[in-house]
Amino acid sequence: MLFSSAISLAAALSLVSATPAIRRYVSSAAPRKPTSPLPAADYSVPIVASVPRSKAKQSLLQSLRESQAAKAGSNFTTVLAGSDFDEEYLTNVKFGAQEFMLIIDTGSSDTWAPQVGYACFNLENKPVSQSQCAFGTAGFDTNASTTFRTDPGTNFNIEYADGEFLSGTVGFETVTVGNMAVANQEIGVVNKAAWDGDGFNSGLIGFASPNLTFVFNGTNPNDDDTQLPYNPFFYSAVQQGLVSHPFFSVALNRGSFAAENSSDLDPNLGFIAFGGIAPVEVTDAAVTVPIQGYNAATFTPENGTDVTYFYYAVDVERMSFTGNDLVFGTTNNIILDSGTTLDYVPTDVADAFAAAFDPPAIKDDDFGVYTVVCSATVPEFTVTIGGVSFTVDPADNLFPLGIQDDEGNDLCASGTFDGGPSTGAEGNVFILGDTFLHNVVATFNIETDEITISQRAPYTSESNNARRRAPASVRRRNV
Ligand SMILES: *[C@@H]1O[C@H](CO)[C@@H](O)[C@H](O)[C@H]1NC(C)=O
Ligand SMILES: *[C@@H]1O[C@H](CO)[C@@H](O)[C@H](O)[C@H]1NC(C)=O
Ligand SMILES: *[C@@H]1O[C@H](CO)[C@@H](O)[C@H](O)[C@H]1NC(C)=O
Ligand SMILES: *[C@@H]1O[C@H](CO)[C@@H](O)[C@H](O)[C@H]1NC(C)=O
Ligand SMILES: *[C@@H]1O[C@H](CO)[C@@H](O)[C@H](O)[C@H]1NC(C)=O
Ligand SMILES: *[C@@H]1O[C@H](CO)[C@@H](O)[C@H](O)[C@H]1NC(C)=O
Repeated sequence: MLFSSAISLAAALSLVSATPAIRRYVSSAAPRKPTSPLPAADYSVPIVASVPRSKAKQSLLQSLRESQAAKAGSNFTTVLAGSDFDEEYLTNVKFGAQEFMLIIDTGSSDTWAPQVGYACFNLENKPVSQSQCAFGTAGFDTNASTTFRTDPGTNFNIEYADGEFLSGTVGFETVTVGNMAVANQEIGVVNKAAWDGDGFNSGLIGFASPNLTFVFNGTNPNDDDTQLPYNPFFYSAVQQGLVSHPFFSVALNRGSFAAENSSDLDPNLGFIAFGGIAPVEVTDAAVTVPIQGYNAATFTPENGTDVTYFYYAVDVERMSFTGNDLVFGTTNNIILDSGTTLDYVPTDVADAFAAAFDPPAIKDDDFGVYTVVCSATVPEFTVTIGGVSFTVDPADNLFPLGIQDDEGNDLCASGTFDGGPSTGAEGNVFILGDTFLHNVVATFNIETDEITISQRAPYTSESNNARRRAPASVRRRNV
C-alpha cells in the first residue's frame, strides 16, 4: 500500500493525537444493509500469489518514519507498506499484447511495468545488474506495441518507504485484465528501478483514487512539482462504459503453507472482479459504508462535502476477540489494503489480543511481529464496521515463520500487529490488510464512494488445514 505525503500524514496524525480521547470524524452517510445481493461481476479474474518476498522488509511503522526523510520536492511522497513475510497477490495483465504479472494493490493508484533495458539500482541509488531488481520479465517493449503511445513532457515517479523507488516515462496503452480491455490507459513506463522483486511480478496495478497517482509535469524527476492526476485503470473502465456497475470487488484467499514454503506460484488465491461482486460464497453479514474522505489541505479525515478521497479508509467502531469484554474504540483512519500482509491495529488492541493467545504471543519489535508457537490456540478476532461484525478466521492469525524456538517448536507470527497508539504523540494510521481481507469480499464503488463488505462463508481449503498444522522446518527467510 501507499501513503500520500508523509508530512501531511504526520499532520493528520498529530490532530488525532492532540485529543485526550479518540476523535472520529465519520462521514455523514449512514451505514446500511446492501439493498439486494450485489450483482455478479461482468469480468472475474483469478488471482495467483507469489511466495513471500525473499528479503526482509521493514515494518510499516519503520517505513513511515523513514518516509519523513524521503525525497523533497514532491508534495506527494509515497511509501509502500512492506511488512516481513510479504505475500503478494498477482494477476496477469496485458499491455498491448505483452503479458505481465502485476501486484494487485488497493492502496495505490498507478499501473506500471519496467521498460526493456531499464536500469536497476540498489536502495543506495548505486547501479546494479538487472537481476537484482528480480522482475518476472525483461520488461515492456514499447517499440513492439502498436497500441502504445508515449506522453511527452511528463514523468512517472514514485517512492516507497523501504527505499524502493521507480521513475520513468508515461504513456497510453491498451491494458487488459481478464477479458476487460481498457483503451488508452495511462501507465508508468519505468526506466529506473530500485525494486525488491520476487522473480514473478513485473510491476503493480493500483486501484485507489486518482488523487494518489504519481505522474508529474516535465521530464526530469528531480524537478517534479506539479502532479498531473489521471484516471487509474478501473476508473477508466467505468468511464469507457466497460462495466454494468461502477464496482470492483476483491476476494483474497489465504495462501497455503506449501506455497509460502516453495518458490512456486499458488494459482488459486481468489479473484478480482469488475462490475460486480467477486464469485465466492458469502454469508448474510454485509454492510455498505461510506469511504472516509480527507481534508486535502490538512490531510485530516473529515465528514465535509468537499472531501478528497485517497485511500479506501473506513470507520471501524469496534475490535474485539473471543473471551474479551473490552470494547476497543478505533478510528475512521483505517485502510483496506490488499498490498499489506498483516492487520495493523491500535496498540491496546494488539497487546490484549496477543496476550489472549494460549500460550501468549510475544512482541518482537525488531521482527515487527508477535511470535508464538504454531501449536497455540488463537482467539477469533472481530472487526465491527457499520454495526456489522466481521470475524477473522484464527488461521489468519497464525502465520508460519519458518523458524524454531530453542526447544525446537515451530514459531508462528500473529497476523495482527501493533499499528501504534490510537492516541498520544505519534498517532497512527491503521490497516486492515490481508489478514482481514482473507475473510471478506470487499466491493468498492467508485461512483458513490462506498465500500460493501460481505463476510465470506468459511472455506476449508487444503491450505487452511495446512496452515493449522504445525509446519515442518522451513528455511529462514529473514536474517
Ligand atoms: C461531522 O464532524 C463533526 C466534527 O468535525 C461533528 O461535530 C459532526 O457531528 C459530524 N457530522 C456527522 C453527520 O457525522
Ligand atoms: C526503441 O526504439 C528506439 C528508437 O528507435 C530505440 O532507441 C530503442 O533502442 C528501442 N528499444 C528497444 C528495446 O528496442
Ligand atoms: C480526488 O479524486 C476525486 C475523485 O475520486 C475527484 O473528484 C477530486 O477532484 C480529486 N481531488 C484532487 C485534489 O485531485
Ligand atoms: C507543464 O510545464 C510546462 C512547461 O514548463 C508549462 O507550460 C505547463 O503549463 C505545465 N502544465 C501544468 C499543468 O502545470
Ligand atoms: C506543493 O506545495 C507547495 C508549497 O506548499 C505549493 O506551492 C505547490 O502548489 C504544491 N504543489 C502541488 C502540486 O500541490
Ligand atoms: C518446506 O520446505 C522444506 C525444505 O525447504 C521441506 O523440507 C518441507 O517439507 C516443506 N514443507 C511444506 C509443507 O511444503
